[in-house]
Amino acid sequence: MDPLNTAPLPADHFMPRTDAPTPDLAVATRGLMKRYGRQIALTGLDMSVPTGKVYGFLGPNGSGKTTALRLLTGLLRPNAGTISLFGKPYTWHDWTRLFRVGSLIETPSFYPYLSGAENLDVLSASGPPTDKRRIDQVLEYVGMSGRAKSPIQTYSLGMKQRLGIAAAMLSDPDLLLLDEPANGLDPGGMVAMRETLRYFTAELGKTVVISSHLLHEVEMLADVVGIIDHGRLLREGPLHDLLEAAGRVRVRVAPEDMTKAAAVLREFAPDRPLYGVDSGDQAGWFTVGIAPARAAEINRALVGAGIYAAGLEPGSDLESIFLELTGRTGTVAAPPTAEPGPPPMGLPQ
Ligand SMILES: Nc1ncnc2c1ncn2[C@@H]1O[C@H](COP(=O)(O)OP(=O)(O)OP(=O)(O)O)[C@@H](O)[C@H]1O
Ligand SMILES: [Mg+2]
Repeated sequence: MDPLNTAPLPADHFMPRTDAPTPDLAVATRGLMKRYGRQIALTGLDMSVPTGKVYGFLGPNGSGKTTALRLLTGLLRPNAGTISLFGKPYTWHDWTRLFRVGSLIETPSFYPYLSGAENLDVLSASGPPTDKRRIDQVLEYVGMSGRAKSPIQTYSLGMKQRLGIAAAMLSDPDLLLLDEPANGLDPGGMVAMRETLRYFTAELGKTVVISSHLLHEVEMLADVVGIIDHGRLLREGPLHDLLEAAGRVRVRVAPEDMTKAAAVLREFAPDRPLYGVDSGDQAGWFTVGIAPARAAEINRALVGAGIYAAGLEPGSDLESIFLELTGRTGTVAAPPTAEPGPPPMGLPQ
């Protein structure tokens, strides 16, 4: 199955794809390739991040997100391809340009015996010139003012993560790269992060690229989404357009009716995969790839076949788009072709 062919979007749903540097893009990568020895991590990544937006960077484990973000920080060099930042080609010697980029990639490391504020002070001394008042400001952004003077070794995982976000914002960067920043954050921390990033983009006009496995969180936060797998972008565009174009209806039947229901439901979207959950507490739920407005038609067809829906939910969500594109699901019910599906949680080889 070629996931790209399952639900083609009109061309205008995509971000501009020119090779010329585009000033309204904070980041544009073209044909970005990266290998670690024989392991290929990026296979020609074309990513377009509009300025002033939150870009949700999504992909299964090992798909290349961290690698792409590391390349954008300048810590790692690509084997091929180009990066432009704020409309200008990225060179690996331009340190002042690097100062415009703040990042939190994987677990932040701090001096355990120093306090949060002292750690930020050390960072500000070694990085771009930073106003001392900025330290208090970023600690406040992430809700850590109250613990600023405690040593890091007394911090919880989520507190360290909050401090990591504060550290990424320290130099007042124009572009913030956050790799799984929600890791360890409690619900209050998530709300605080969301509000800070919204302020950062909508009020200050800055740009955020955030990778996350929490699709619901990304759905609430991102303006634009890029979905990557096997080192290349499968889809990119405004979240709203993506959700609208990938409308779906979720319908639940009794587990014993699933085979019969699958035959009825497949007629509605013969070209898109039909997802069904055949075990666990979600057993009986199907996701049908059709416009939400056709929910009543589905119900009628099921009744016609003597099946009564126990639940019907029109809508669309990022999770089903993600699963459809990446093919990462272990619960495809009765696939329309004999072609075997990928194993559950399949990792790239
Ligand atoms: N230092 C490294 N040496 C060798 N291979 C690596 C290295 N770092 C990453 N890889 C490989 O590159 C590919 C992409 O990895 P990457 O960490 O960028 O994925 P990811 O999308 O961030 O995954 P995750 O969601 O698990 O964080 C994987 O196949 C991974 O095994
Ligand atoms: Mg990663």
